[in-house]
Amino acid sequence: MTERTPDQCRADFPSLERQHRGQPIAYLDGPAGSQVPEPVIEAVSAVYRHSNGNTHGCFPVSRDVDDLVAHARATVATFLGADSGATVSFGPSMTGLNFSLSRALGRQWGPGDEVVITAADHEGNRAPWLRLAEERGVTVREVALAPDGTLDLEDLEEKLTERTRLLAMTAASNALGIVPDLARARRLTAAVGAYLLVDAVHYAPHFAIDVAGWDVDFLLCSAYKFYGPHVGILYCRPGLLDQLDTDRLRTQGQTGPERIQLGTQNFAAISGVRAAVDYIASFGEGADLRSELLSAFERIGEHERRVATSYVDRVAAISGVKVWGPAFETPRAPTIAISHPARSAAELAAHCGQQGIQVWDGHFYAIRTTESLGLEGQGGLLRAGFLVYNTVSEAERLATAVGEALRA
Ligand SMILES: Cc1ncc(COP(=O)(O)O)c(C=O)c1O
Repeated sequence: MTERTPDQCRADFPSLERQHRGQPIAYLDGPAGSQVPEPVIEAVSAVYRHSNGNTHGCFPVSRDVDDLVAHARATVATFLGADSGATVSFGPSMTGLNFSLSRALGRQWGPGDEVVITAADHEGNRAPWLRLAEERGVTVREVALAPDGTLDLEDLEEKLTERTRLLAMTAASNALGIVPDLARARRLTAAVGAYLLVDAVHYAPHFAIDVAGWDVDFLLCSAYKFYGPHVGILYCRPGLLDQLDTDRLRTQGQTGPERIQLGTQNFAAISGVRAAVDYIASFGEGADLRSELLSAFERIGEHERRVATSYVDRVAAISGVKVWGPAFETPRAPTIAISHPARSAAELAAHCGQQGIQVWDGHFYAIRTTESLGLEGQGGLLRAGFLVYNTVSEAERLATAVGEALRA
């Protein structure tokens, strides 16, 4: 396959052609969902054109669907750094799968058991665990943020005790782009015998996930953040899911990845997930899919950092603007949140939106982050996210628009 370079890839995304008032739309809202390339659109359409059926039947279309699910599981396993597709469950969203998992785990726990969550996390990785406090009497502890928005790892160490059953922690903050130290989290959870659950939703489009190397018990991500359709993905350490009392029907698969999947899956979208992973791999080179993905993420990361840096350099020079999160010398996602004492993020986003520059304002469901940083009362943050199809000229347009909004 000929390798794709980030600079050539824009033609793969039909939606990038859309214009607003004579200018191309700048999709800088990737953390809320990426645009979708042609091979993914084609893979989804192909299912409806040729193979639209249900699984486990004794006729050709059903066998097609069985094959597409098996291939998608195997491809996603490689994407996650897992050995086998049997560790990969699909669902409508990360949030839905996480609630299913928390209910199943919670049936083993009660008063005296503890779960640790963080203030850096999206509500999708907090609410399912907080719910266990109400329903099962589990104690939920929260790891605080340091004043600069990074996760306070000393606090993490204090919150983990012999009573901790699980740490639910993000691999990358969808608000500030911070990337907490997972290796340290694993060492600390292993020392107290707790599970480690990682929310990799925001990490997945930017870096290679490695569930085996990280030694995680559970990991969740969502394909619509990495150029695929709206499908949630749950990885469970081999054998672990079979021990959990999941919500399920007596008529469905009782073992393996199906044990936690509720109802008929969106097979066309699942086919698109496989195509999205193959699409990412097309930016890399190597002897097999995993090597291609590792090389692809190096190249994609380099491009995204270059584009994000050009925005940070310009916007940080504007008087009064605070750029949150560490510099790129530290591992971080190319997701840049800013605030200004005199203008709300909503005002800035509205000005950008009028020019066809799509950026979000507010808390992005990571509301504990904006609350902890004292920003919730001021309308939160203005967030721009940079993906493989974004360009330096889009980053410049955004910085110019922010400057104009602040002068207006
Ligand atoms: C970091 C993070 N975690 C979880 C979620 C929730 O994912 P889903 O929409 O698939 O439930 C999101 C969505 O924005 C996210 O950014």
